[in-house]
Amino acid sequence: MQTMKSHDYIEREEKYGAHNYHPLPVVLEKGEGIYMWDVEGRKYFDFLSSYSAVNQGHCHPRLVKALTEQASKLALTSRAFYNDKLGGWEEFITCFFGYDRMLPMNSGAEGVETALKLARKWAYKVKGIARERAKIIVCNGNFHGRTISIISMSSDPDAYNDYGPYTEGFVNIPYNDVVALEEAIAGNDIAAFLAEPIQAEAGVFVPDDGYLKSVRELCTQYNVLFIADEIQTGIARSGKMLAVDYDEVRPDILVLGKALSGGMYPISCVLADDEIMLTVKPGEHGSTFGGNPIAAAVAVEALKIIGDEKLAENSYAMGKIFRDEMQAVHSPMIEEVRGKGLLNAITVRPKDGKTAWDVCLTMKELGLLAKPTHGHIIRFTPPLIINEAQIREAIDIIKKAFKTFE
Ligand SMILES: Cc1ncc(COP(=O)(O)O)c(C=O)c1O
Repeated sequence: MQTMKSHDYIEREEKYGAHNYHPLPVVLEKGEGIYMWDVEGRKYFDFLSSYSAVNQGHCHPRLVKALTEQASKLALTSRAFYNDKLGGWEEFITCFFGYDRMLPMNSGAEGVETALKLARKWAYKVKGIARERAKIIVCNGNFHGRTISIISMSSDPDAYNDYGPYTEGFVNIPYNDVVALEEAIAGNDIAAFLAEPIQAEAGVFVPDDGYLKSVRELCTQYNVLFIADEIQTGIARSGKMLAVDYDEVRPDILVLGKALSGGMYPISCVLADDEIMLTVKPGEHGSTFGGNPIAAAVAVEALKIIGDEKLAENSYAMGKIFRDEMQAVHSPMIEEVRGKGLLNAITVRPKDGKTAWDVCLTMKELGLLAKPTHGHIIRFTPPLIINEAQIREAIDIIKKAFKTFE
């Protein structure tokens, strides 16, 4: 039998799969730490980390062990019964982040949907907003997932257009704009303000220092819930355990996903205090897989790894090296280098018809994988276990790739 090559795998996906992604032409079959290998055996630096899910590195031995041990004992019970793992995860994560309760789901989008439902329920049962009137303020440029309700608040035409009719009850305002928030939050029937502490998918937009502090103050002043979507920024990606830690604020509802499992398994969750979480009663919300024993075992281990390996500190230090080095590069194609911790982006100025996509193809040829977002921005988000020698080697590759376009 003839062995398949990269182009055969690509052709097969193109033929039988939906075309809802536009992947870089590389077919991966193995991952370890900060590296991945393609089917021809070529080794690459992973500078995407599966959109910040693989913060702990590919196939972390402790996560493989947690997953396989639990998978061979008990995988799924549904929430019709108790299992011996979920309570341990709930206790661990609520102590870890300082909330009364946790509600487990699977994908990030489900986590955000859960937060929206909690905010509405709280608005009716606690705040006293009249039924069907609750509104949630969101930011232009947001990315919170792909469900109908979530895309209903998106300002990105690719996410939004042709998927209506849309879910009502959202008020869009500009991001990083305290005045706009002050105006909107003073309106009637406002239940919550939902935001990413750094807008990652939009292209790594870091708000001004103190923005989140003002958000917190306004939400408290107007008795409006502050929901932080830390699905991408959280779990040490930004150089702190949570990106809100930079402003030392505590959201009322915290949504986590992605690196909550170190990329082993789809796990998301919502954290909140009793007054919010206990508004939801049995039968009103849930998921067959949410809170399953494998997820519980993996999620506890994934968070412990972040602390044991000091990944927030490493993310902070390595991110600084990345930005210092790349900001010093004078390339006609580099417009701006920005980010926090190891959540960074370079905005690319097209040159002679060459774009961010071409830069990514060149980096791939040189052994580093990253992906453009919105056509002209490249996100650089390696696993947080990367060390100084490795990040310097990767930076040399990125510099070399930009140099080929001079
Ligand atoms: C901030 C944020 N929220 C929500 C999501 C959606 O997560 P998922 O793709 O797991 O549904 C993402 C995914 O990129 C995200 O970055």
